[in-house]
Amino acid sequence: MADAFNPEHGKRLEDPARLEALPQAAVVGLLRLEGDETVVDYGAGTGIYTVAVAAALPQGRVLAVEALSRLTELLREKITPELADRLVVVETGDNVVPLDDGEADRVVMVDVLHHLYDQPEALEEVARVLRPGGLFVVLDWGDKERPVGPPPGHVLGLAAVREIVTEMGLGVTEAHEPGELLPYHVVVVAAKP
Ligand SMILES: C[S@@+](CC[C@H](N)C(=O)[O-])C[C@H]1O[C@@H](n2cnc3c(N)ncnc32)[C@H](O)[C@@H]1O
Repeated sequence: MADAFNPEHGKRLEDPARLEALPQAAVVGLLRLEGDETVVDYGAGTGIYTVAVAAALPQGRVLAVEALSRLTELLREKITPELADRLVVVETGDNVVPLDDGEADRVVMVDVLHHLYDQPEALEEVARVLRPGGLFVVLDWGDKERPVGPPPGHVLGLAAVREIVTEMGLGVTEAHEPGELLPYHVVVVAAKP
């Protein structure tokens, strides 16, 4: 069973070593945004990546879906007046994203899939909200020894991420081991047919 995220570890999400390993610009770049998209940041945490995505969406919006109120409080503190009309906080542990079928252009999970890969309702919700051609972008810790992040035995690794995404009915367009795009993360990008 997947490990639940410990709310006591909220501040660790903003550890400079973590941000060095996974810069905000790398996450935004993988989304390939034009600036008018609807993006879901599933498991947004304290919003350290959400705000960077919102900044790249002058005509779009990002929904920050997060189960833990202690983390959404920290996220809300990051919403500047400039970002207020393009960043929507959705506090829910029910895996219900308030979008119609096919309304999202992108769904991104940053270090989240290893927490919820065994919640079919979460994965079904991702597939439901994506539009045809929309992208699911997964970044997660690789299952190799590294100086930051959870122990390798607690995460999934590239083969497992690929399998999960394929079972969701999505087509993998890009897959990278740690050391290719990012030092410690696997990256999988998949499109909805
Ligand atoms: C390791 S944190 C990553 C947070 C953020 N994506 C980041 O990279 O800074 C994982 C987050 O996923 C959230 N999460 C896990 N399962 C969830 C679910 N089913 N619905 C909403 N949030 C969930 C946790 O509460 C936690 O904030």
